[in-house]
Amino acid sequence: MLTADSGAPAATGIEIVGHELTKAFRTKDGTNLALSPTDFRIERGEFVAVVGPSGCGKSTLMLMVAGLLEPSGGEILVDGAPLFDPLTDVGIVFQDDLLLDFRTARENILLQGKIRGLPRRQQEQRTDELMRQLGVDHAANRYPNQLSGGMRQRVSIARALVHDPAILLMDEPFGALDALTRTQMRVDLEALWLESPKSVLFITHSVEEAVGLADRVIVMGPSPGRIVEEIVIDLPRPRPVQLGDEAAFAGYSSQIYEIFKNLGVLHD
Ligand SMILES: Nc1ncnc2c1ncn2[C@@H]1O[C@H](COP(=O)(O)OP(=O)(O)OP(=O)(O)O)[C@@H](O)[C@H]1O
Ligand SMILES: [Mg+2]
Repeated sequence: MLTADSGAPAATGIEIVGHELTKAFRTKDGTNLALSPTDFRIERGEFVAVVGPSGCGKSTLMLMVAGLLEPSGGEILVDGAPLFDPLTDVGIVFQDDLLLDFRTARENILLQGKIRGLPRRQQEQRTDELMRQLGVDHAANRYPNQLSGGMRQRVSIARALVHDPAILLMDEPFGALDALTRTQMRVDLEALWLESPKSVLFITHSVEEAVGLADRVIVMGPSPGRIVEEIVIDLPRPRPVQLGDEAAFAGYSSQIYEIFKNLGVLHD
């Protein structure tokens, strides 16, 4: 892909902009304001992480970006055009892995391309390659109930990537994993993204994971959700397995912990 004037490769992915985006849920006790009016931007090919306390509206924000939940106010622009319908050029990893129990791991991944009418052989090759890259190729023919939590998460990540979408939305994709698997998943996800740097919105409760993965971290405050700070993470890639030793990494992490302390989300 070449840009018309420079001849340089164009960034992949799509640009998503939110203007004054807000969401209030109607409940039997009245209205629950999940997201206060919020502005945000995900650039083409940018890896954006959102970190914030439980209930601050992270999943709500992601579902609105996916076009799966209607905002109560404001708008989302996708490459400049208002979003009214669910995004199609997207891969989503939901907070639960949502694999189909009656299909094998490989068949779960292949379903993505099948629904989209993509060429079967190309999808099979890509599925097998992704399963190899994510270290679950040995489990291709197992059913989801025969997989560990970490393997299920890897399969759902492969399912979100197999059709090479312009944007990847991930809601706590490593939330159910043990610390070691979680660290390896971070490294593996970064490697896949570096191969094909699509726009990513990655939601997490983990400050270290957000700083470890992102180009920019959006920090959200407690309910009703709002963005309190955006921090550009200027660390070289690929980032090492053990991040804690890097002074710059520690600096970004403490900056975010300070914000949460000031908000009363954390205290000593
Ligand atoms: N369908 C719904 N109806 C009513 N309230 C809802 C609904 N979905 C979410 N909420 C409320 O909106 C707020 C934000 O919820 P959301 O799931 O976006 O939080 P979150 O930041 O993703 O939390 P967590 O980190 O625990 O996943 C919460 O107060 C939640 O109770
Ligand atoms: Mg959530």
